Amino acid sequence: MMHSWLIQKGRIIDPDQGIDEIGSLLIREGKIVWRGEIPPQADYHVLHAEGLIVCPGFIDFHCHLRQPGFEEKETIATGTQAAARGGFTTVCCMPNTSPPLDNSRIIDYVKSLATRESVVRVLPIGCVTIGRKGEVLVPMADLATAGVVAYSDDGSPIRSSRLMHQALNHSRTLGLPVIDHCEDAALSEGGQVNEGVVSLELGLRGIPTAAEETMVHRNLTLAKQLAGCHLHIAHVSTGGSVELIRRAKKQGITVTAEVTPHHLTMTEAAALGHNTSAKVSPPLRTERDNRALVQGLRENVIDIIATDHAPHAAADKDYSMTLAASGISVFETALGSLMGLVHDGQLPLDTLIARLTAAPARLINDQIRGTLKIGAPADITIFDPDKEWVVDTAKFISKGRNTPLAGATLKGKTMATICDGELVYQDDSIKLTEFQKGRAA
Ligand code: DOR
Repeated sequence: MMHSWLIQKGRIIDPDQGIDEIGSLLIREGKIVWRGEIPPQADYHVLHAEGLIVCPGFIDFHCHLRQPGFEEKETIATGTQAAARGGFTTVCCMPNTSPPLDNSRIIDYVKSLATRESVVRVLPIGCVTIGRKGEVLVPMADLATAGVVAYSDDGSPIRSSRLMHQALNHSRTLGLPVIDHCEDAALSEGGQVNEGVVSLELGLRGIPTAAEETMVHRNLTLAKQLAGCHLHIAHVSTGGSVELIRRAKKQGITVTAEVTPHHLTMTEAAALGHNTSAKVSPPLRTERDNRALVQGLRENVIDIIATDHAPHAAADKDYSMTLAASGISVFETALGSLMGLVHDGQLPLDTLIARLTAAPARLINDQIRGTLKIGAPADITIFDPDKEWVVDTAKFISKGRNTPLAGATLKGKTMATICDGELVYQDDSIKLTEFQKGRAA
């Protein structure tokens, strides 16, 4: 039986409705049924939210759940539990699995796995090309019918401009975004970290900003010719890319873009000492890039924050920088690291929440989520903006403990996550819930 919940006296922030007020929310039958100050007479479980922020559940447009094929790195079960711990109630999973998500049968399989094993909503992203080989387009319409929310060969760029053009052309009728991992492989080949002082210091080949920007530019050029297509730029990492997207949006090109928590808050310096946990694609750049990315987010040049949660097994990272896998495990640290930008005065709190909720809901064309409207599905995140905590990767729910934030102190922590009216995560540090018959105190 589904519980009724009263989320009591939290600071309700819902950018979708322009709400920032102290109040309570009542949830019944999986939906938000009431918002206000004095709750109606009813039996419910009370979730004490005094001093906490209550907002729509976070929606992640870009993560890796690794199933099928890489279950030693993550599974749909562990990945979605880690997502719930991070405050995410919907996650879109990338298709670089084994086999890759390039046909409707495998999409059906992932969806059925998710129905059985996930604690939050999982929406698959299909490949752009068969086997992610960059040679032949997937049957895009079939994949749309099977339920993909976008297309991407993430991890690899779509090298062929002709295929990218065709995919974008199909996006016009399908109404789904084509996501590109923008990287000119000829420029990035052999690169391990950002090209600059750190690559010099470590004696490693660097990845220049131009490797990203030339591909962003190519994609924008193609999108310009295809009115009504939807190009989405994954994990923007350079100030130059932000400027290209800013100009494209001014010209009316239909492009959206995302940035990750790590590209907003960390620099290439994290890789010093050959720290493979900071190896990620695209690489962490410089403080100047961090600032430009935050500015892009504030101005809505960058539409959303997406985690690019990329869990790896310890063995995949336990190599030299050149051989180690790329990627950072992000779900469980995302909110804490992003709240650093709010505490520093770089990003308004409502902008941060909007980029994690209403904005990605728009991107996946979900009219009923990313909001706390009455009648909406009860996908809700409750977090303590000021809670300081030390990142202990041994306590991660994710199988991926690969983060340069191990041992760091973050300020801001998810306290509870509700997905479709079910409490899917509760922090063990405080007692939040109690059953109450009748009127709440
Ligand atoms: O660092 C990365 N890791 N970047 C990607 O684009 C793919 C991801 C992965 O799948 O591990």
